[in-house]
Amino acid sequence: MAAKTYAMPTAVAEHARLSPASYQEKYAASIADPEAFWREEGKRINWFSPYSKVKETSYAPGNVNIRWFSDGTLNACYNCVDRHLPKRADKTAIIWEGDEVDVQKHVTFRELHEHVARFANGLKKLGVGKGDRVAIYMPMVPEAAYAMLACARIGAVHSVIFGGFSPNAIADRVNDCEAKVVITANEGRRGGKAVPLKPNVDKALSKGACPTVDHVVILKHTDTDYELEAPRDVWWHELIGDCDTDCSPEVMNAEDPLFILYTSGSTGKPKGVVHTTGGYMVYASMTHEYAFDIREDDVYWCAADVGWITGHSYIVYGPLANGTTTLMFEGVPTYPDVSRIGKVVDKHQVNILYTAPTAIRALMAKGTAAAKGSTRESLRILGSVGEPINPEAWEWYYNHIGNSQCPVIDTFWQTETGGILIAPFPAATDMKPGSAMLPFFGIKPKLVDNEGHPLEGATEGNLIIEDSWPGQARTLWGDHERFEQTYFSTYKNVYFTGDGARRDEDGHFWITGRVDDVLNVSGHRLGTAEIESALVAHEVVAEAAVVGYPHDLKGQGIYVYVTVVDGVNATDELRVELVKWVRSELSPIATPDFIQWAPGLPKTRSGKIMRRILRKIACNEHSNLGDTSTLADPSVVDSLIENRLNR
Ligand code: PRX
Repeated sequence: MAAKTYAMPTAVAEHARLSPASYQEKYAASIADPEAFWREEGKRINWFSPYSKVKETSYAPGNVNIRWFSDGTLNACYNCVDRHLPKRADKTAIIWEGDEVDVQKHVTFRELHEHVARFANGLKKLGVGKGDRVAIYMPMVPEAAYAMLACARIGAVHSVIFGGFSPNAIADRVNDCEAKVVITANEGRRGGKAVPLKPNVDKALSKGACPTVDHVVILKHTDTDYELEAPRDVWWHELIGDCDTDCSPEVMNAEDPLFILYTSGSTGKPKGVVHTTGGYMVYASMTHEYAFDIREDDVYWCAADVGWITGHSYIVYGPLANGTTTLMFEGVPTYPDVSRIGKVVDKHQVNILYTAPTAIRALMAKGTAAAKGSTRESLRILGSVGEPINPEAWEWYYNHIGNSQCPVIDTFWQTETGGILIAPFPAATDMKPGSAMLPFFGIKPKLVDNEGHPLEGATEGNLIIEDSWPGQARTLWGDHERFEQTYFSTYKNVYFTGDGARRDEDGHFWITGRVDDVLNVSGHRLGTAEIESALVAHEVVAEAAVVGYPHDLKGQGIYVYVTVVDGVNATDELRVELVKWVRSELSPIATPDFIQWAPGLPKTRSGKIMRRILRKIACNEHSNLGDTSTLADPSVVDSLIENRLNR
């Protein structure tokens, strides 16, 4: 059946940067001569010294090497802040909407410059310099952006750790990049509740667990007092007390790292994805401008968290590089109730709203209550990111948030891609609910079968990207081999996304989800291995296997099989205890939805767990288990099915 198609609303199409014809023309040019295309587009960023080289990239096995604009110099913070001062000093750079309804703040570009420069001088006082790593574990407050930009200003490499991570997860991330300083707040606020950030950092750093950390800077965000540990801890306000607002931006090479961001993979510990300065800034700012068809007076709201790549590229670096007013929201869409998003849109006259399907589904679950109490007439464009958006959620978002007048821009991309790869760019194309549609300039998405053979026409397969683009990750921190192995070894000479996709008869892309052992739970990316290792750290767990299953609200739920050690009673109380354990060991975002006791796990004769079978059992697809002939003990499967049915 042909997919339902929506035309770009006329009001958007008439004024949009792109038309179907101009998109096709520009796309063709970007593919025909990437060197010439990006040589021109790179100029959107201010360079201290211009680049002569543009694209030097190789995906060759054993020699993956990605460099863009490599002899140019620039500073990311300068591009987000200083360069706007001549014309936009009094323009609002950041609107902050607090967790509580009546708490907000406006920060102009002039003020942003002052805050960032002072804090950058503060970091210097602590001995932070070019190339040093700084961990940022902050709530959604403007100071999180100041901290990121201050690092960029002095050439320090920031590693933002999502505020929902637990002490162990913080320690792992801090240690992997050997951070010198951790920036945090006493507390965050989310949905009316306090988030104990400083206590979590204390636990992470306790007993010398993070030996590289010299200092912790603490923002006093709420009234709750915590004791500081001298001389390690310092209050943000005391640190900047005597700092002036003069701090010249460090001259960085295009390929100097701008930040590290840890993300989950299908194996082992999280991967420190490294983005460098020049190509990332060009790509983040350009995709932001085109995906949301940004205008000078727009108020733009990306409701992600700065702890994820969406927050990096589309709350901080992309919009600020474009001189766009960016709204930061501390709270959650359902607090104090589901009408919050609409009310924030009206209050700040938001033109562009960019959020995740999981948030949309949470609002949709309450019928049309989310649309009550607001007109949302200021909205022009809606965005979606993080997971496939089901057509029902797309239509609800389109009709009830966007008043059937705003295109839904479903943006497919990843931490590793730095920016959007595939989307229905306004007004390059019509829209089909559930399809990410068309590649951005310079992006060559292709489908291959499991052996890597190209698949043509309308078909489904593994999504790869041929060739490089400026915003692409360059390496994994300290582990280039793993970088090559993860993204460039499954299929030779191309980048493998880890996602499956379908291409329809019109050539439009539909992302079907991960084809590896990565879960997408409420738009949060989690490795099954990470959750398993948290579980087996508990003394009663002999073995654990984690798989995803379809979940109405979260997209995917977490289904856990646990084998307890001999002599332990597998009780409901133990289930509760293990759920709590995972939350505190890793993060509340990794909360198991269901734990099934497993006397044994289905393994091959060589001891490999057959997850395919566990997935089918979790999804109640018992009749269709596929080939089980390589199992060491097929009877294990029968008892798992029986337990599942009796659950
Ligand atoms: O599976 C894809 C899914 O999210 C994964 C990337 O997760 P992360 O690195 O955390 O970045 C999320 C924000 C960019 C992808 O491999 N994904 C992301 N956006 C979409 C999506 N799946 C379908 N449609 C999307 N629009």
